[in-house]
Amino acid sequence: MIQTAVAFVGQVGNLRPSGTRPADACTGLSLAFSSRFASRQGGCQPPAGCHPAPQIHAFIALLVIFLPLLLHAETGQSAWLRYTALSDTASRPYLASLPASVTTFGDSPVIDSARHELTSGIRQQLGRTLRQESHLPAESSFVLGTLADLRQFHLDANLDSDAFWLTTAIANGVSYTVVTASNDRGVLYGVFALLRKISLGEPIAHLDERQSPYAPLRWVNQWDNLDGSIERGYGGRSIFWDGGRVRDDLTRVAEYARLLASLGINACAINNVNANPKLLTPDFIPQIARIAAQFRPWGVRVALSIDFGSPKTVGGLDTFDPLDPQVAAWWKAKIDELYQAVPDLAGLVLKADSEGRVGPSAYNRTHADAANVVARALGPHHGYLFYRGFVYDHHMDWRNPKNDRARAAWDNFKTLDGLFDDNVILQIKNGPIDFQVREPASPLFGALERTNQAIELQVTQEYMGQSRHTVFLGQQWKETLDFDMHAAATPTPVKALLAGKLFHRPAGGFVGVVNVGLDESWCGNQLSQANLYAFGRLAWNPDLTAGRIVDEWTRQTFGNDPKVAAAVSAIQLTSWRTYENYTGPLGLQTLTDIVGNHYGVNVEASERNGWGQWHNADETGVGMDRTSATGTGYIGQYRPAVAAVYESLKTCPDDLLLFLHHVPYTYILHSGKTVIQSIYDSHYQGADAVEGYVRQWKSLQGLVDEQRYHQVLAQLEYQAGQAVVWRDAVNTWFNRTSKIADVQGRVGQHPGRFEAESMTLEGYTVREIAPAEDASGGKAVGCPSGTPQCTATLKFSGAPGWYTLRVQYFDQANGVSHFRVFVNRQLVDEWSADLRLPTFRLDSSSSTRRTVSGIALRPGDEIRIEGQPDSGELAGLDYLEIQKLQ
Ligand code: GCU
Repeated sequence: MIQTAVAFVGQVGNLRPSGTRPADACTGLSLAFSSRFASRQGGCQPPAGCHPAPQIHAFIALLVIFLPLLLHAETGQSAWLRYTALSDTASRPYLASLPASVTTFGDSPVIDSARHELTSGIRQQLGRTLRQESHLPAESSFVLGTLADLRQFHLDANLDSDAFWLTTAIANGVSYTVVTASNDRGVLYGVFALLRKISLGEPIAHLDERQSPYAPLRWVNQWDNLDGSIERGYGGRSIFWDGGRVRDDLTRVAEYARLLASLGINACAINNVNANPKLLTPDFIPQIARIAAQFRPWGVRVALSIDFGSPKTVGGLDTFDPLDPQVAAWWKAKIDELYQAVPDLAGLVLKADSEGRVGPSAYNRTHADAANVVARALGPHHGYLFYRGFVYDHHMDWRNPKNDRARAAWDNFKTLDGLFDDNVILQIKNGPIDFQVREPASPLFGALERTNQAIELQVTQEYMGQSRHTVFLGQQWKETLDFDMHAAATPTPVKALLAGKLFHRPAGGFVGVVNVGLDESWCGNQLSQANLYAFGRLAWNPDLTAGRIVDEWTRQTFGNDPKVAAAVSAIQLTSWRTYENYTGPLGLQTLTDIVGNHYGVNVEASERNGWGQWHNADETGVGMDRTSATGTGYIGQYRPAVAAVYESLKTCPDDLLLFLHHVPYTYILHSGKTVIQSIYDSHYQGADAVEGYVRQWKSLQGLVDEQRYHQVLAQLEYQAGQAVVWRDAVNTWFNRTSKIADVQGRVGQHPGRFEAESMTLEGYTVREIAPAEDASGGKAVGCPSGTPQCTATLKFSGAPGWYTLRVQYFDQANGVSHFRVFVNRQLVDEWSADLRLPTFRLDSSSSTRRTVSGIALRPGDEIRIEGQPDSGELAGLDYLEIQKLQ
């Protein structure tokens, strides 16, 4: 089979608390659905009795039919810029008045990109090659250029930087379709907007549309390490770095810049915020210039993350005290040197005094001192310093009920308001903790009046299923952006505050932590690309609805078939709530292993340690008391109108209840349910919803190209299994702890489920799983390393009929075990445990489901599962579920 997926080659392991990582550590193992699908299709696998020869013939036939698709756009690499050919009917209105040429004014690389993009976009969508002109022809033409270059049209406009105007202008009696702007980048953005209209079937004749970006700074951050790994990256290795240097082949960098430009993103920080100081050594600076050269034609500027200790570690000084004149001089000289190599460097990003990074506290200085010493060196070059507001103590005493990590950003920065230079931007995560499934807007947004601010949103889904789960985050981001902080008498939504509109700040904007990699799908999951799209579109215009964004994305990414658009939108637009339902509802936050991989379930991992992601669950109740009256006082950090809503149980929204209050399990929510019943119910709803996604997606077979169809199907089927793991683990934990039964009698009851440890075992040994809720019944079986094969057998005693078998097995990262399922002597399925999941253990992160459908069973039939372990992987089994086919 053609191997279209670029396999993840990251280092394994690194399962340690967030924040303790070495500068070049690699986290995250990716589940490469593309390669998984490829390997499944390639071998003689299910069902029993498959015949290799006809399969090879069929394969060759398929290859001939699908080769063009496989080789071109259908890997996901073109993302939303596929520009597929319009049907005859759809193209007719465009062709009726399509200009025959494109005339460009100005010859910058950005204008060149604009011309090239327009030409190829029109060619691919409408099958016409525009003639390229540099003087206005006497016939209709697309005209591209800045306002300054198009004086002959007497266009009267006052456009912000990066804004564009799509208009129709008449010169010498001829009508032209004009894309203009105040700068080259705006012209390029206008071209992308024009092409998007064609992709979406919107008219382009007689245009008169101006668009201005909502905020001036629209950046992305990549957490890429110099060794090529990516912290919290799930789409493969770095497109920038490899083996401690900039990669030789930067093709993907240019492609990434084009994607970013299509969304109006104007800068990208190319290395981890946990920055390696080596980046500032002379050897690296010319390498950075190579990346800048790939970005430049797309109007994207390079930014760098820096380490605050650099004056000492690479500068040879004996201090990095920000108030020491030698240190200031060092930053100045270093930044001048950077600008010599990269004159359009956008600026720097600084994480200091956070999660083990050094900072100004080493010298008893403030964050403002730290930020300003760097910002003053950037000032002459018009560069910005993004100073991260993600500063907290990760050794906090959990026994002190007044301690609260959520308070940290406000406590650290509120008193510094007004002390930062004008080219410093405080980069604030959307919520007060750390990209959890549900958090309130950070109170810091509403507290700063004399400081520039940017919101930091996480596109890479660290706590959101790590791209192995489809979770569209557009609605979460919109909820924060639209949230009124009541910072003045008029409405003050977060978006207006960070754009500097309310307090007349000179700068501000949006930062997305993206972490794309070399994977052809960029993100490790085709549907997760929608998050990058949504981030960019919201950074440009936060007033867009999530529905509009998903619809745009789907139709550009998968085509204009209404059935596809409807099904994909339905999945994406419910996916955040679904994920919340089966992970951490009611403001519990993502109940994941926060001291490990941030992926699998571990309800207690966040409790009783210094990391401060507590949710305070015990036998009597659950939730953090953050009230001013009796709790940590966090709620008092909001302006009074917001604080009043959160402080009172009567008005606190159910979705945030346990983030803000501690209540008994029997507390009645606004929904009318008790807290405990709501926890149980939402987990069932969440898991059921993902099963629904699988069905919805299956209805699209034949309407989506084969490759992506199967990749997404594999991803959703995996997610459906994981949602059950989450459902059972969280519900078991709360049931055990609260001792309150599920009124619907589902928790702990699994009809048709047979625990592996209760089956007849040969070779397999029973293992206690920790935490116990990570496996059904708290136990699983493993086949000891060195044993060639183990078996678990069950005698079926149900009614005769057709059944689905669900084998819950463990796919660890330390080997590729092989499984075979027999009914009596007949092999009905076999597979390899070859996903790349982030654990070496038998736990909820490795727990995976294999579904074998349509099996005829009679009483007395013997179902035998054979597991062949590999290296450290134990071919582990949790249970077998036998469900009657309806
Ligand atoms: C999270 C994440 C880290 C990251 C940090 C940050 O804690 O787990 O990997 O370094 O956020 O935003 O700085």
